[in-house]
Amino acid sequence: VNQANGVKGLAELNLPTVPHQYIQPIQARLDSCKIIPHDSEEQSIPIIDFTNWDDPDVQDSIFSAATKLGFFQIVNHGIPINVLDDLKASVHKFFELPVEEKKSVKDSPPEVVRLSTSFSPLAESVLEWKDYLRLVYTSEEKIHAYWPAVCKNQALEYMKYADAFIRKLLQVLLKKLNVNELDKEREHALMGAMILGFNYYPACPEPELVSGVGPHSDISSITVLLQDDKRGLYIRGKEGDSWINVPPVNGALVINIGDVLQIMSNGRYKSIEHRVVVDGNKTRISMPIFVNPAPDAVIGTLPEVLENGEEPHYKQVVFSEYFNYFFSKAHDGKKTIEFAK
Ligand code: SIN
Ligand code: FE2
Repeated sequence: VNQANGVKGLAELNLPTVPHQYIQPIQARLDSCKIIPHDSEEQSIPIIDFTNWDDPDVQDSIFSAATKLGFFQIVNHGIPINVLDDLKASVHKFFELPVEEKKSVKDSPPEVVRLSTSFSPLAESVLEWKDYLRLVYTSEEKIHAYWPAVCKNQALEYMKYADAFIRKLLQVLLKKLNVNELDKEREHALMGAMILGFNYYPACPEPELVSGVGPHSDISSITVLLQDDKRGLYIRGKEGDSWINVPPVNGALVINIGDVLQIMSNGRYKSIEHRVVVDGNKTRISMPIFVNPAPDAVIGTLPEVLENGEEPHYKQVVFSEYFNYFFSKAHDGKKTIEFAK
């Protein structure tokens, strides 16, 4: 298997079966009987119109979604549709680059650009059916020097619009936690480091045996995800081993609360487990923005939340340590947050 061409290179061999390294144990597969049909009101993922984001009713619906399922979709976020379409097209162009060019991307400084496969291959006993690129939203100078040319302008344009949207959304989420301002310190602790991801899930000859991404919760403060028109993302339902699909909605962004905001809100906001299933015929792509704290930020419950003598449920952690812990093991549901207990 060619390392630089990852699972895509493997899929192109047109093997009739998947190599054993990718075969999940039965209990780790998503059997269709575990999927909740889209008719239960309580467990459906809300779609929120962000046009009047200053309106108390809109802010209430965001608070309610963050508190209940921890997942919601936003329409009218202010990012033009052509910016989204150009980004998606550039993701396909990137993964379709000749292997030689991908090899040179693999040699980029990892603090700016990372091309890899699965999740954390050295720490995993079973590999995930996914390739990914990570573009760190850092100085313009480094971006211009290292982001791959096929997608640089599209990714940067997207991030500039997304940055403005993310600030507004964080302000709403903070306001509901009695914090009235996204000042410099909060900015450092909530969005001090942002990473744009390109996820590529090739069609798989035996999709029910593999996992695109295993159950996990995100370690971010929030994640802002653009998905294409293919189903694949599932979040854990309220009862046991049940899963709810996050349906693709044209032009919408999927938002989920990450562990950092669960900790900061002392559990009011929920960082919910989710996973990705791959398809037998179609390649799926998704583009997450991991809105992360700066590496040196100390994460703990906000004093404004603890106003009424409430005890914090978590201890303080330095974000870089939390981050390294997450990548030191395979995806394992909600276990990462134990690190802060
Ligand atoms: C992830 O949560 O890691 C990926 C989400 C997706 O591809 O939809
Ligand atoms: Fe995730």
